[in-house]
Amino acid sequence: MKQPYGLVRARPEPEFEISVDGAPVPVVPGQTIGAALHGAGIRAWRTTRVGGRPRGLFCGIGVCFDCLVTVNGVPSLRACLTEARPGDLVSTRPDDGPDEWPGDDPETVGER
Ligand code: FES
Repeated sequence: MKQPYGLVRARPEPEFEISVDGAPVPVVPGQTIGAALHGAGIRAWRTTRVGGRPRGLFCGIGVCFDCLVTVNGVPSLRACLTEARPGDLVSTRPDDGPDEWPGDDPETVGER
């Protein structure tokens, strides 16, 4: 069976890994952190403050803020919009970020 890359005769750069909470996750160059997590079978990586309900990719386009992660110490980045780079250290634990997650406030979301 042909892979999508073969169908369009693309020659992607070799895969690399990022570290997510200390575990390696493979990345195809150009993938966002959210896509890499999804590709690794990780569907939820944080929980709501009220009720502890699981959250991961929801909108996938930067609107809902359900996918927040800390990348290389920068908190509150949207995994669906943040391109993975070789060696990135990703944390899904809110205690690796600020005292309070900005969560739903777009004005307080960090830039990478
Ligand atoms: S999945 Fe909605 S902002 Fe990332």
